Amino acid sequence: MILYFSGSGNSLAIARQLADKLGEQVLSLYDAVDADLQAETRIGLVYPTYWLDAPVAVKQLVAQLVLPKNAYTFIVITCGAQTNNAVWSVRKILEQKDIQLDYCHKIRVPDSSAIAFGRNPNDQAWKFDKYASRIDLIAKEILENRHRLHFSGFDPLGWILNTKKVSQKVYRLTLPAVNPEKCIGCGVCAKVCPQANISLVNDKAVMDDRCTLCLACVHFCAQQAVEVGGKTTIPERQYHHPHVNLKDMVRRG
Ligand SMILES: Cc1cc2nc3c(=O)[nH]c(=O)nc-3n(C[C@H](O)[C@H](O)[C@H](O)COP(=O)(O)O)c2cc1C
Repeated sequence: MILYFSGSGNSLAIARQLADKLGEQVLSLYDAVDADLQAETRIGLVYPTYWLDAPVAVKQLVAQLVLPKNAYTFIVITCGAQTNNAVWSVRKILEQKDIQLDYCHKIRVPDSSAIAFGRNPNDQAWKFDKYASRIDLIAKEILENRHRLHFSGFDPLGWILNTKKVSQKVYRLTLPAVNPEKCIGCGVCAKVCPQANISLVNDKAVMDDRCTLCLACVHFCAQQAVEVGGKTTIPERQYHHPHVNLKDMVRRG
């Protein structure tokens, strides 16, 4: 079983591609919390790197999972460039559950946070060139039950950045906000938000305080009414993985 978390679809697309090659199913990490996984012989976690670490929601969800102790356990991280502590911190959570991580690897993909800094994630499509062969390699090594952590070391910078004090300032740089003048109350942002953090009040989207910075609301709003980092959202910079669509990203449950 491959458990995923995804905001702009990179991790979902990769979870699906791996699942095809491994003969596994995919399940959202949110649904996995209530699922009975005890009969699984292989558990994969596929999620992105946010701010040099795993997303806060991923760490919270993995902490809640009840995982089989003897399954082959692997992590595949998606990232724009580097994964820093994104494996290290989840590995620690797994070890607290007495679960050894058998394998991890990363896949570089377009950086969905680039939009927050006035850059265009769609300019990074070149990263897809190496991506297919990396997925093939990962699938091959997993099928061989390889015990190999391609990287998983501790990065002090990633740790400092995600301490409570520092992260409060840093996370704000990629915190989405609704522009009420552009919002037409269609509710798409509320449907794609994995955290169920957005509701409609008087036909306008309103955010609560559970945002985990996935930016799904920014990338999927057809009105460009969700902005981030004080930048006007323009359609050319909205990004989602080419193999996922809005329907794939709608939160279930
Ligand atoms: C808030 C935020 C922070 C990010 N921080 C990093 C980072 O520190 N390092 C990196 O290489 N990529 C970073 N990225 C890029 C994502 O890891 C990458 O785009 C990932 O594939 C997104 O996965 P998803 O489409 O499944 O949500 C960040 C993306 C977001 C939205």
